[in-house]
Amino acid sequence: MDEQELPPVDSADGAPDEAAEPTASQASEISEPAPLTSHGPARIISMVNQKGGVGKTTSTVSLGAALAGYGRRVLLVDSDPQGALSVALGVNAYELDLTVYNLLTDPQCHIGDVILSTGVEGLDLLPSNIDLSAAEVQLVSEVGREHALARALAPVVDEYDIVLIDCQPSLGLLTVNALTASQGVIIPMETEYFALRGVALLKDTIDKVISRLNPDLQIIGILATMYDPRTLHSREVLETVQRAFGDAVFETVIHRTVKFPDAAVAGEPITAFAPSSSGADAYRQLAREVLAR
Ligand SMILES: Nc1ncnc2c1ncn2[C@@H]1O[C@H](COP(=O)(O)OP(=O)(O)O)[C@@H](O)[C@H]1O
Ligand SMILES: [Mg+2]
Repeated sequence: MDEQELPPVDSADGAPDEAAEPTASQASEISEPAPLTSHGPARIISMVNQKGGVGKTTSTVSLGAALAGYGRRVLLVDSDPQGALSVALGVNAYELDLTVYNLLTDPQCHIGDVILSTGVEGLDLLPSNIDLSAAEVQLVSEVGREHALARALAPVVDEYDIVLIDCQPSLGLLTVNALTASQGVIIPMETEYFALRGVALLKDTIDKVISRLNPDLQIIGILATMYDPRTLHSREVLETVQRAFGDAVFETVIHRTVKFPDAAVAGEPITAFAPSSSGADAYRQLAREVLAR
């Protein structure tokens, strides 16, 4: 690996030996979250990475379902015109009358008319389809264009404990809207060498949103996904990421397994499709980590 290409390395916390053994042992010790006696106001979290295919949508649906399993009221927002989140929850995205597009562009549109319940108790969805691709163009000429999603979500924030926004793979206006509406960001990152530079670029964008639009925004964590412990490459990249970003990296690491695409095809979260699989375990552990951060 070419050291010069790597992001700056913080002073390492934890011995190198610990970093070399990237199990999630510490996170698995985080105790079960206490049940809630009342709900809201929601903490809004964007799932962001400008690269596609890194596990944003999979992490949104899996983390959301795991949080719902811990008794949290969760709203998932599909902010990608591809509509993959909606499809992953078994929604026929092309037959929808009302989507996030209407919510962003029509002030008369009521969010309650757009929200769908899912097959998972406590888990609701604001669906999207290809219509949303027009929203970016339409919003550009609007005053307060970066705040459209925050405005749209406001009426239901008190009804949920967590809102997770699944972003499209770009740093365009839809993603800026998601970041403006959020208190937190989770960065799913494929355990691949070239992913490192992408995360550095994304951090620049997040810093700009913090300074210009949303001073409350914080990075909750970087989530290593598609990890394959059998390859030296995967292990090396994970070690580098942990050294570079330190505590910002979740203890939970999502391994590569065909169970995730299988669950997506079935239109179910992994926690419902294969509840006792290691993938479901990992996202329950991530849910505990997120609640503890
Ligand atoms: N941990 C994983 N192991 C194997 N396949 C995965 C994993 N996470 C996601 N996938 C699959 O990889 C593809 C891209 O994942 P997705 O979550 O849609 O990424 P993104 O939303 O960042 O584009 C999908 O087919 C998904 O089912
Ligand atoms: Mg996606």
